[in-house]
Amino acid sequence: MLDKTSFPYGAGFRSLTREILEPVTLPVRGELPAWLEGALLRTGPSKFEVGTRTYNHWFDGLAMLHRFGFGRGRVTYANRFLMSKAFTAAAETGKITYAEFATDPCRTLFGRVAAIFDPKLTDNCNVNVVGAGGETVAFTETTMPMRFAPGTLATLGVFDYQPPLRGQVSIAHPHYDAARKRHYSYMVEFGLQSRYRLFGVADDGAQAQIAELPVDRPAYMHSFAMTERYLVLVEFPLTVSALDLKLSGKPFIQNYRWEPERGLRFHVVDKESGEIVATARGEAAFAFHHVNAFEDGDGIVIDMIAYSDARIIEELYLARLRAGTPIDATGTLTRFRMTLGADVDVTRETLAPVSLELPRINYEAHAGKPYRYVWGTGIRSPGDFLDSIVKVDTKTGDVARWYEDGVYPGEPVFVPAPSAKAEDDGVLLSVVLDIKKDVSFLLVLDASSLTEKARAEAPHAIPFHFHGNYFASANVSKGGRE
Ligand SMILES: [Fe+2]
Repeated sequence: MLDKTSFPYGAGFRSLTREILEPVTLPVRGELPAWLEGALLRTGPSKFEVGTRTYNHWFDGLAMLHRFGFGRGRVTYANRFLMSKAFTAAAETGKITYAEFATDPCRTLFGRVAAIFDPKLTDNCNVNVVGAGGETVAFTETTMPMRFAPGTLATLGVFDYQPPLRGQVSIAHPHYDAARKRHYSYMVEFGLQSRYRLFGVADDGAQAQIAELPVDRPAYMHSFAMTERYLVLVEFPLTVSALDLKLSGKPFIQNYRWEPERGLRFHVVDKESGEIVATARGEAAFAFHHVNAFEDGDGIVIDMIAYSDARIIEELYLARLRAGTPIDATGTLTRFRMTLGADVDVTRETLAPVSLELPRINYEAHAGKPYRYVWGTGIRSPGDFLDSIVKVDTKTGDVARWYEDGVYPGEPVFVPAPSAKAEDDGVLLSVVLDIKKDVSFLLVLDASSLTEKARAEAPHAIPFHFHGNYFASANVSKGGRE
């Protein structure tokens, strides 16, 4: 057991193995909006040890689902491991059996062949929860999303892709186009000729490939951009050879090389025709998260949380985090502008000079369209972990911040008020670790002013995790939107 007193936020990287299958009612301080009736569904790494081994990276841990239910002024909570093959094989054998982001299975089991490839693709969906194709789905970065029951958190099985959709790697951040009633995403098929496949999944579950882009060295891309008409892949110069991936014997991400001379490569694809309508290049940068994008005159604006390089991946190895090593790399809200045309250059500007991660917007009203506000987690004290919730006004550059000593908030999920007129009329839902009490609580903030409306204390400390979505009650069985 990790000593939680060894550094302030150690509990955020401690395994949580206790499951609460029957929802418990949480004590609430403050007042919840009466209209908040639904559930916040989240996933994240929760078990970092298997037998005598420890996973290498924060992104590797075995997935647990969390459900905060809202209704009649009450908050309920339940949590349950995702019953993935990765989880059940680890439980049955006492060994790490599936390859994760930065950890390979025991060598004695599978020799030196990298295990990212089928049939050992991991289904350990610890990154995001999205309602897609009429299902509630947990995602990781392989083509093995997992369906689960939004009420009980019971695992239902793999979300299957139909031919021609095939590949090994995908993303946990599909986009939803409300006008077309479909999600968009992409996958990477590694081979003698590797390719990106852009595809859509309609609300009724129908799948369709939109475009294939051949690529020699696929880039590591954790998300992509969407406007009303276009999908935009931004290739960061962190790339891999399919052969290395297959034969090197190194864990997945360790095969990728940072090659800044490649710069950024933008590919703009028309959603309807599948044609590449523009390509562009820019100076090297890295990002996990696109924030939003939109068409602007004869060009496209693409906002992301940009880093100067990919060191952040190294800084999130578990041993480092568990030693309390400060994170040095800083992501900032950065705006890229490109005109539509072939091989054009992009310009870039920093919208706010503060560290920002896990960004959210008013997605329902502004995905792919002009917008003004970004919420995310930030670092208030240099060297600390994500210790505050930040709101950025992209029009003025103004930054507002919510913080409290000794607490570490997670991704702030924006939920619009039912009668909202203003873009920021609604609440933010964030799972916050309180290191003084060694528990987490669900925080409800006014999204406009960042003032606290309510908090509900969970029965345990929830390890730091990544993403989730709010599902309104009418929608709980169908799913959320982002
Ligand atoms: Fe993410």
